[in-house]
Amino acid sequence: MMDLLTMNQLSNEEILTILEDAGAYKDGRGWTSNSMLFVTNLFFEPSTRTRFSFEVAEKKLGLHVLNFSAEHSSVQKGETLYDTVKTLESIGANAVVIRHEQDRYFEELEGKVGIPIINAGDGCGNHPTQSLLDLLTIKEEFGYFKGLTVSIHGDIRHSRVARSNAEVLSRLGARVLFAGPDEWQDASNPYGEYAPVDEAITSSDVVMLLRIQHERHHDQSNSVQNYLQQFGLTKQRESMMKQHAIIMHPAPVNRDVEIASELIECDRSRIFKQMENGVYVRMAVLKRALQKNEQKLEEKNHVIC
Ligand code: CP
Repeated sequence: MMDLLTMNQLSNEEILTILEDAGAYKDGRGWTSNSMLFVTNLFFEPSTRTRFSFEVAEKKLGLHVLNFSAEHSSVQKGETLYDTVKTLESIGANAVVIRHEQDRYFEELEGKVGIPIINAGDGCGNHPTQSLLDLLTIKEEFGYFKGLTVSIHGDIRHSRVARSNAEVLSRLGARVLFAGPDEWQDASNPYGEYAPVDEAITSSDVVMLLRIQHERHHDQSNSVQNYLQQFGLTKQRESMMKQHAIIMHPAPVNRDVEIASELIECDRSRIFKQMENGVYVRMAVLKRALQKNEQKLEEKNHVIC
């Protein structure tokens, strides 16, 4: 089953294939479906970028999109995630895209459902398609990963983006630095070293900022005062960056908190490029999930219909 649940289930070779496929889609080439294939997007947490870029990707591939709304579904009557996915599979969905607030929600589904699961973000755990679009953006900029220094700034502990990216970037040969408040450091993430914020900024080829994940802070007394000046990307810190260095942020952005508002669309910012690349990466991930089994899936749909 061509699930995509975490980045560490992908080999380096598979990652590079997905990035190549994404590049081909960007150039207007690549597989599209001629069959009646259905994909369901199940979002149990808010999303703008991931949800709608999956939907655009699905439509560009000729897939039929079933958008699921938790508040108008039988989840409200107590139906479990497993029963929801099995129901959608029985009705004819050929793949499911899921975002869920629970870390590793997919463990209750793995090996028990017969259609690919694509993880669109699990709690503080993983965000593999964000990671892939970040890799595509870095590859387009530099052409390689080995030897680059990428610093990840801010709320490391609660960030699924930091977890997914640090592991894969260090595996691909980049040096990963973390910077941010002590209370948001993550002892369970061994893929980077902590550095003072100014040192991380000046030594990086990529400055990757993270959103402060307020919704995952159970202890609100832990909020950091004057965050922009202490830890964020101010205009003054941006002037200390290497000449060729770029700024990334998975967004949504808290303007004038993680980054000065005036820098969001500056020359070195790739924040909107990341969003654009998200569509092509998600097309490649959907292709990986569906293409090989297209004929089998089509036969199954005919039987069900
Ligand atoms: N970057 C990201 O996952 O954004 P959304 O929460 O809007 O999907």
